[in-house]
This record gives sequence, structure tokens and C-alpha cells, in this order.
Amino acid sequence: MGFRKDFLWGGATAANQCEGGYNEGGRGLANVDVVPIGEDRRAIITGKKKMFEFDDEHFYPAKEAIDMYHRYKEDIALFGEMGFKTYRLSIAWSRIFPKGDETEPNEEGLKFYEDLFKECHKHGIEPLVTITHFDCPMHLIKEYGAWRNRALIGFYENLCQVIFRRYKGLVKYWLTFNEINMILHAPFMGAGLYFEEGENVEQVKYQAAHHELVASAIATRIAHEVDPENKVGCMLAAGHYYPYSCKPEDVFKAQQSDRENYFFIDVQSRGEYPAYALKKLEREGIDIKMEAEDLQLLKENTVDFISFSYYSSRVVSTDPKVNEKTSGNLFASVKNPYLEASEWGWQIDPLGLRVTMNSLYDRYQKPLFIVENGLGAVDVPDENGYVEDDYRIEYLAEHIKAMKDAVELDGVDLLGYTTWGCIDLVSAGTGEMKKRYGFIYVDRDNEGNGTLARSKKKSFDWYKKVIASNGEDLSF
Ligand code: BG6
Repeated sequence: MGFRKDFLWGGATAANQCEGGYNEGGRGLANVDVVPIGEDRRAIITGKKKMFEFDDEHFYPAKEAIDMYHRYKEDIALFGEMGFKTYRLSIAWSRIFPKGDETEPNEEGLKFYEDLFKECHKHGIEPLVTITHFDCPMHLIKEYGAWRNRALIGFYENLCQVIFRRYKGLVKYWLTFNEINMILHAPFMGAGLYFEEGENVEQVKYQAAHHELVASAIATRIAHEVDPENKVGCMLAAGHYYPYSCKPEDVFKAQQSDRENYFFIDVQSRGEYPAYALKKLEREGIDIKMEAEDLQLLKENTVDFISFSYYSSRVVSTDPKVNEKTSGNLFASVKNPYLEASEWGWQIDPLGLRVTMNSLYDRYQKPLFIVENGLGAVDVPDENGYVEDDYRIEYLAEHIKAMKDAVELDGVDLLGYTTWGCIDLVSAGTGEMKKRYGFIYVDRDNEGNGTLARSKKKSFDWYKKVIASNGEDLSF
């Protein structure tokens, strides 16, 4: 009973939120670099306000982030000390292809990740690699309009050809696109999409999504061709929708809302556009241009496992009087009166994780992998950088209990669990450093002040014990 013997415990980060070194090693500029902290951030990440370059009025936290580019050895050693079996990280596309459309890759970028993966193995850690975690080279945005242009499929394919070959034997677990459904909610940050005045936004988003889905299928095919040992997953920003009431209209709305997100995974896992999506596109006059081979590519190259992030469940209502909203991972949701919330208003629902796992497993019957979960909170360190983060331990323990129930009591096949932001990093939603998720504290603030020194929080030793006991000992 309990988790599988080879359960992959670990933590997760993304290149743009921790590496920094934005202009080092031949790296090119990307969308994720030019999203500043502050009140313009939301308009920029949703593609409503144009920000293609740095300006002097804003602070851009991804430029230096937590400087993992120079400090990864120290950080990976700390992950090793916690007993990580896996470390989820992403490749910055513009380190490998600085502009995105070159034919030859940048050797310095390739070498950087090769060294990093070797460092992981030195500590017995299996890398889990997200090929794109929101990033798109700026040149592809300016010259091609990012993923709205079919040419992006070819550029992404080149990236995959290069990295699968170069990292054969070093990396076995791959995710094609982080939170692929984020294209609907944060199209500039998620897919480099900026909308011109008068453009049909839905048409552009779904066309771009089609290109990503085809690119994901091609990546899956190449990964399997290059090394049959490779396991490729899709990645969903998950969180089951609850109807606010048992009114049939609310229940129906909840089902429709879930489908907006499942659409992507239905294609990646089942290999075809689901009937409800075809009907929706037709109804809304969205005409997706496809090439003859697309449907076959999708059909023949489905993913091996389903990975997802989970922070909270979501709620919908058809009653205009039920309109108290809550924030959460860039998705609008009605506030759930039964749940507590984090300092950023994200509602806390461990049982919702079990509900979400069951929905996904029922639907796809493929192994699941929880690749993000955690609590963003304000930490107050003592003079040694130690944080007594019982609130974080409690959040994680409750979620681990729920996922254990899903495995033991419901029979869900779960490959692993990587907590989000295992080391403090820049928040994707807000650009803040103040919103911390880590077991490791990083001395840096929202304005970029601090020594960048790392120190262990109370949760560091707690998670170490959780991993050592394969999830049996959650006490603290
Ligand atoms: C997910 C992303 O949406 O949530 C991460 O994949 C992100 O990149 C995480 O950091 C937590 O969100 P936030 O806004 O608190 O950083």
C-alpha cells in the first residue's frame, strides 16, 4: 500500500523564474523577460498592453531572478540533501536558439543544461524537464507573431530534435508545454500572443493552441524515436470546477468550464478534437486552419502520462447575485464559502486535489504526475535566514494526505509529486519575490535587494523526512 516504491518526490521551478542571467551565455530575449512587476503586469501577460522591450520605468524581476544560472550547484546540492528523487526544471528556449529561427543551436546554452543535468545525477536526482515553461523567444514574437504562426511548429521541432539527442541518457521525463491551457488566460506570458486592435482574440488563441498541440505531438514522436525510454507528458493548470449550488444550470456550467481546460488534454491524451470542442468552435465561428497531416499526427502521438499543477478547486455559478470572486492562478472563480484562503486569496482545498486526480484518472486512464502544488506565503526569516513555516508544512501535509487517499483508496496511478517553487523564486502571476513557496529561503525582495543567500526553512527538514518515509511520516 501507499505510494509506489519508485515514487518521484521532488520540487519544481521554471527557468525564467529562477535562472536570471538573461543576457549571458549567448541567451536571447524572451517574452518572460519583459514582464515587469507592478500594476501593468496583468495587462501585459494577457496580451492587452504591448511590452516587447525593457523600459526605464519598470523593474523586470526575471533578469536576475534568484541567479540560479550561477548558483545551480549549490541549489541542487540542497535538493539532494532533502532526498529529492526528481527535480522539475525548464529549458529556456532562447538559451538554445537565441532568436528561435536559427538552424544551428547555441553551444553555450546546450552545455549549461548538460552540466546541470549531470549535477542532478551526481545527487541521485532524475531531471524532469519542461521544454517550454511560458517562454517564447522575442524574435519569434516580433517577426512571426508567436504561436499564431504555423512556422512556430517547425522552430519548436528544431528545438526538440536538438535537445532530445543531446540529452539522451541524461533526461527521461519530458513535459511539452507548461500549463498549456494558460494560453486562454495569459496569452502573452503563456504563448507570446499580443493582440492588435480589432483582432478576433478567440480565433487567434485557438489557432495558436492548435499549433501548440501539433508541436506537442511532434515532440512526443521525436522523443520516442530518439529514445524509447523517454516518457512524455502533457501539463494542465488543473483544479476541478464545483457548481456553486445543485441547480442544474450551475452543474452544467461547471461541466462546461472543466471542458474548456480538458480540451487540451483530450487532444494530447486521446489524440483527437473532442466532439464538444468541435461544436463550440463551429458555434463561435472559430475556424482553425489545419494541414492534412495534423489530425494523424495528433492521433498517433499521444502522451505517456498526464501531469498537472494544482493549487485550488474553482467554483462557478449562473446566479448574478453570487458574484464574490476570488483570485487564483490567473483563473477567475467565484469564492467558495467553505474554504480558507492564502494571503493572495487562493483558496485552500486539499480534498479538491483528490477530486481533481479522480476526474483526470477516470477520464484518461493514464498515470498522473502532480508537478506543481504549494502555498505562496509571506515568510519572515530570523537573523540566520531561518523561517518557521508551519503554515506551509500544514498545507503540504494536507495535500499529500489527499493524494495518498486518491492512490490508496481510489486506485489512482500516481508517478510523483514535485512541489512548486522548492526554492523561493519570482512569482509568475505577480512578479513578486515576497510570495514564497520554497523549502529554501532566498534573500531577495520585490525591488531586487538582498544578498541572494540561501537558507533552510523549517519545512526543509520536514520534507526530507516525508521523502525518506515515502510519504508515511507527515508529522511535524
Ligand atoms: C503556475 C505556473 O501557474 O503557478 C508557475 O506554472 C507559477 O510558473 C505557479 O509560478 C504559481 O503561481 P504564482 O503566480 O504564485 O507564481
